[in-house]
Parts: sequence; C-alpha cells; structure tokens
Amino acid sequence: MDINLIQTQIESDLSAVTTAVALEEVRVKYLGRKGLLAELTGAIPGLPVEQRGAFGKEVNALKNKLLNLIAEKEKVLKNSGSVLKKENLDLGMPGIAQELGSIHPITQIIDEICAIFTRMGFSIVRGPEIETEYNNFTGLNIPLEHPSRDAFDTFYLKNYSKFLLRSHTSPVQVRAMKAHKPPLAIVVPGRVYRPDAVDASHLFMFHQIEGFLVDENIKFSDLKGILELFAKSVFGQEIKMRFRPHFFPFTEPSAEVDISCIICKGKGCSVCGRKGWLEILGAGMIHPNVFKQVGYNPEKYTGFAFGMGVERIAMLKYGINDIRLFFENDLRFLKQF
Ligand code: DAH
Repeated sequence: MDINLIQTQIESDLSAVTTAVALEEVRVKYLGRKGLLAELTGAIPGLPVEQRGAFGKEVNALKNKLLNLIAEKEKVLKNSGSVLKKENLDLGMPGIAQELGSIHPITQIIDEICAIFTRMGFSIVRGPEIETEYNNFTGLNIPLEHPSRDAFDTFYLKNYSKFLLRSHTSPVQVRAMKAHKPPLAIVVPGRVYRPDAVDASHLFMFHQIEGFLVDENIKFSDLKGILELFAKSVFGQEIKMRFRPHFFPFTEPSAEVDISCIICKGKGCSVCGRKGWLEILGAGMIHPNVFKQVGYNPEKYTGFAFGMGVERIAMLKYGINDIRLFFENDLRFLKQF
C-alpha cells in the first residue's frame, strides 16, 4: 500500500468535512479498530524482516499526522457555527445601542439668548474666569467699601490678592471697551463665581450673560426696546415687562427688570411670591465713571448695559425649582431637554 497515496486521500476526505459527525466518520475510517491504519499495522508481521522497521515508522508517522489533522479540523469546526449554540449567542437579539448625548440645557439657553442678540447685530465676546480686581471692581466704578469686594463675597486667589474668580461678567465691559472704540454692541456669556452656600437657588458657580452697547446718542428707550424684544423671544409675545429703579455702581440710572409671571400671567402665585412679576435681569445706562476708566469721552458717548443669570432664566422658562439639578449630571433630568 502506498503511504503517500493514503495521506493524500486523508487530506481530501478531511477537506470535505463540515460537521462533527462527518469528522467522526473520517476518524473511524482511518483510526478505528478496523480502520486503514489498523490494517497497515496488521500487515507488518507479513513483511520481510528488513522492511518491517522502516514501514512501521512510516505508519506511525502517518498516524501522528492524521491525529494532528483531525485535531485541527475539530478546532476549526468549534470556532465556526458550533460556538453559537455553545454560548447561547442569539444574533437576532437587538444590540445595546449607544446612547446619544445632548446639549446641556444651560448651554442651550446661552445659545438661544446669544442668537437673539447676534440677530440684532451684537457680537459674542468671552473673558477669562480669573480676573483682576481692577476689572471686576475698580474699572466698573465699584467703590472700595462695596460689600461685594469683601472676601466673604468674592473668591480671591491665595497669594495673588489682585486676582479673583470673577463675580460677574461685567468686567468684560472694561476689557472690550479698552480694546475697541465705539460703536460696539457685545454680549458676553460665561461662568461666574461667588462663595454662596449651596441651596435650591444658590450655587458657588453659575452663568451670566452680559450685554452692552455704546455709541453716540444711545438712550434708555433703546435699552427698553432691545430688552423687550429679547424677553418676548425667550418667554413669549404675551409677556409684559416692567423696569424698577435700582442701584448698580456701573450704571446710572439703573433698573431691575421684571417680566409678568409666566405661570399665573400676573395674577399672583407661589412662583412669583404672589407679586405677579419675576425679576430677570439688571440693567442701566453705563456710568460716566466707567467710560472714564476705559478712556471713552462720556460727553460724546452713551451706552447701556444689562446682566442676567442664565440658570434663573432657564428655571423660569422650564419651571425648574432647584438650581442644583443643572449640575448633578442626572440623566433623568438632562434627557428632558
Ligand atoms: N453685574 C451685575 C450682577 O452680577 C448684573 C448687572 C446689572 C450687569 C446691571 C449690568 C447691569 O451690566 O447694567 O449682579
């Protein structure tokens, strides 16, 4: 019997095998008790003595080769179809979908408000969160004895007492006016910091949007018109506005601006404290002392400024009663926006 011929036959038999059952059949055909290899081994004693050793070796080598080939084939079969059954893998089952993120509600409100102002021709400018004491206070006509300068009301940088975490976005007024000549119309979104105890309406970090416009002949009525357009775009055309006299060091005259309560429409409810009005921002005509600080001639230029808290606007718009919800990263909250 030609050993080489047998080997070729084995290889072709194995290559046709696609199931474990067929593989077993091949194994029996060659390695079984009545298999071809048993037959070859049985033929050895009938050979001339001098041929027996060499033939025996060849038969042994063939056997080892065959065992290897069968083991290899077994592996191949295992790694293909049969693995599905073994691990109970169901390819028809729906997969685990990647969840899509979304834009944070505070960022959405900032984008929405900035878009309202850019449509009116305002530019968006940003300033640093670490500010100089000068830009945050002195340049804005905030006197030395003003309580907001106190360490209890401002985060000063340790070892750098002239630097602080800005307590409002107003210092960007000073930066922008020093860098550019009028006319200018700018909105400034950004984070601000105050060492407030955290509760449902206070955080040590929140967001503001500052706005200001400077040119010749800018009047309080320009401020009123622009703020009304802004408030109606955000809260709806039917809301009313009211300007209450107030004091800010960097504006004169100054006002706090309210909108009619969006819940009770002005009748009085628990959200507006029965007043019918909700405060949304501070505003006024830029103080001549601020113009002097930045090198503008207050005889020639006038302008207005306003500043609002973004979280407060978002809370009013969406009826959210706890400011902490914005920053807890709770997907049940965030998914609603
Ligand atoms: N900077 C003020 C604050 O944080 C808000 C403000 C009020 C800004 C009046 C202004 C303004 O520009 O005119 O409380």
